[in-house]
Amino acid sequence: MTPLIELRKVSKYFGPVVSLKDIDMRVYAGEVHCLLGDNGAGKSTLIKALSGVHQPSEGQIYMEGQPVVFNSPRDALDKGIATVYQDLAMLPLMSISRNFFLGREPKKKVGPFTLYDAAFAAQVAREEMKKIGIDIRDPDQPVGTLSGGERQSVAIARAVYFGAKVLILDEPTSALGVKESAVVLKYIVQAKLRGLGVIFITHNVHHAWAVGDTFTVLNRGRSYGTFKKEEATREQLLQMMAGGEELEALAVELDLIAKKDPTTAAQIEHKAAEELHKPN
Ligand SMILES: Nc1ncnc2c1ncn2[C@@H]1O[C@H](COP(=O)(O)OP(=O)(O)OP(=O)(O)O)[C@@H](O)[C@H]1O
Ligand SMILES: [Mg+2]
Repeated sequence: MTPLIELRKVSKYFGPVVSLKDIDMRVYAGEVHCLLGDNGAGKSTLIKALSGVHQPSEGQIYMEGQPVVFNSPRDALDKGIATVYQDLAMLPLMSISRNFFLGREPKKKVGPFTLYDAAFAAQVAREEMKKIGIDIRDPDQPVGTLSGGERQSVAIARAVYFGAKVLILDEPTSALGVKESAVVLKYIVQAKLRGLGVIFITHNVHHAWAVGDTFTVLNRGRSYGTFKKEEATREQLLQMMAGGEELEALAVELDLIAKKDPTTAAQIEHKAAEELHKPN
């Protein structure tokens, strides 16, 4: 099967900063591909290369087997790559249907005038939301009255409706509570079942594990590779995200300190444990 999207040896440099180095990745239709990694690992840089915000410094992106260049976010969108950012570009005071069609308003002709077709927009918005399993009572309701999870779902439904082949979600659950996250995870699965290739970026291994088919782990701009669900465990992914070697080095250091100064060692260990247990 040809991947929907493939990266071969993609690198991205910002002056002396190496944000990505020799990344290989393949995303297939009908799968959820999780992109994992700690802060600064290069996740956002990678999706910016895929969504036309940045050009790779080296390497090549392929879409359905053909080399492709995304000149702008609009260009990537036109080629079927829809990206939903955490801070959604939505207008809270405007209705759900208005936001659904933002930038692509349906028009109707009334005599010599061309008007926004509100009835069509409302009908499509309601139907499309229903298809991914969300029942909106009133498409004229302002988006600001929706919960965070519901807003994410509007963005997902919109991408599906406008024919996206690849749906990229950058940390869609990071600002959400447990129930809201579950809602968004459900829509991610819906999008996959409709044949999209979904790239799901998250810090949360549990969220990734719940919906992911494949996992790519980035660490300091490099890839640990791609793993199928049956090839890895949640603990291994977590270990890779945290940078296994660094933790081992820390353990050695702590051991040395412990021999000389048990009090300092205990303090450092306590601090490290706190860091590790911080959410995100
Ligand atoms: N425009 C830029 N100019 C210079 N350096 C950049 C730029 N964008 C990203 N970087 C650097 O590239 C590295 C990777 O950043 P990136 O935002 O891709 O990480 P991330 O995995 O998305 O992290 P987070 O989880 O914090 O969102 C960081 O060291 C960052 O400082
Ligand atoms: Mg990021």
